[in-house]
Amino acid sequence: MKGLILSGGKGTRLYPLTYTCAKQLVPVANKPVLYRVIEAIKEAGISEIGIVVGDTAPEIREAVGDGSRWDVGISYIPQEAPLGLAHAVKISRDFLGDDRFVMFLGDNVIQGGISGLIRQFESSGANSQIVLTRVANPQQYGVAVLKNDQIVRLVEKPRDPPSDLALVGIYMFDHNVFEAVNAIRPSWRGELEITDAIQYLVDHSYRVNPYVHTGWWIDTGAPGDMLDANRLVLDEMEPKVEGYVDRGSKLIGKVTVQKGAEIIDSVIRGPVIIGEETRIVNSFVGPFTSIYHHVLVEKSEIEHSMVLEHSRLIDVPQRIENSLIGRNVEINRSPLLPKAYKMVLGDNSRVGLL
Ligand code: G1P
Repeated sequence: MKGLILSGGKGTRLYPLTYTCAKQLVPVANKPVLYRVIEAIKEAGISEIGIVVGDTAPEIREAVGDGSRWDVGISYIPQEAPLGLAHAVKISRDFLGDDRFVMFLGDNVIQGGISGLIRQFESSGANSQIVLTRVANPQQYGVAVLKNDQIVRLVEKPRDPPSDLALVGIYMFDHNVFEAVNAIRPSWRGELEITDAIQYLVDHSYRVNPYVHTGWWIDTGAPGDMLDANRLVLDEMEPKVEGYVDRGSKLIGKVTVQKGAEIIDSVIRGPVIIGEETRIVNSFVGPFTSIYHHVLVEKSEIEHSMVLEHSRLIDVPQRIENSLIGRNVEINRSPLLPKAYKMVLGDNSRVGLL
């Protein structure tokens, strides 16, 4: 079996973070989502992986390389425009050949990995297996209707959802999917929809098995989803302290301190991860927070947030929460008069003031 990861897209809902960083490379619990996807595929016993890339191809290549770090082979498949998930399958034909494969959206995080799903697909002999989960907002996804545990209909982003079973961004196929992706036409949004390709398989009597996933699953498309994914992954992490914690500090609950990090006179209430070479001084870091590498937090309080590399939070007068802070950001008190907020914010930044 092979793996196909989709890692294109502009990540507009995550602006301004994704002006300078591919959305799949935003770290969730201090590890890029794309690395988590590669690890999940590898763990399922698959070592040949194709990554479909778009505008952010140089960054993705730079971050992932040839895959030797995970002991997998990586092939890059350029997609000239985001023309849909089924289009991505179509252009991956040479890489996939006649092998069965799992397609995994590079910004999705799923509880429990995919080994169980892959085993079930392999032993079923089905032509395709799709992963479904119940959601509160089916309008935002592809949705499936089941009858006697079989898929009868699939609709992409229905205005009036016929069910609350959303298609999770993980799909398994055999080579018959090429017949489907070649037969379908672009949807109203101008994309070749994988949902339509699966409907084609169902209509042409191919066996498509549904698998209803009951754990959590997050499509990290928007800031709230990112924070949710961060919270859920942190909650399941085994704590490990590899950095320095001074006697004046207190770690409570599940706290990971990565290599070269320093915690001085601070209280860290887990689940929390503190990145490499990061310094937390005289501060409080509260539950569900990830502070990435080379960050400084001094005389400040932060919880339920993510801070990316090389940012500095110094002497912030009120606790920061529910925040997604990008790279090289500085937040500090400004002692100079006039007494005023002084900001340099990128396009699409959002600031909540007290
Ligand atoms: C895509 C699929 C949709 C699926 C979703 C999962 O949506 O078209 O069927 O439910 O991924 O994340 P998109 O991310 O293109 O809006």
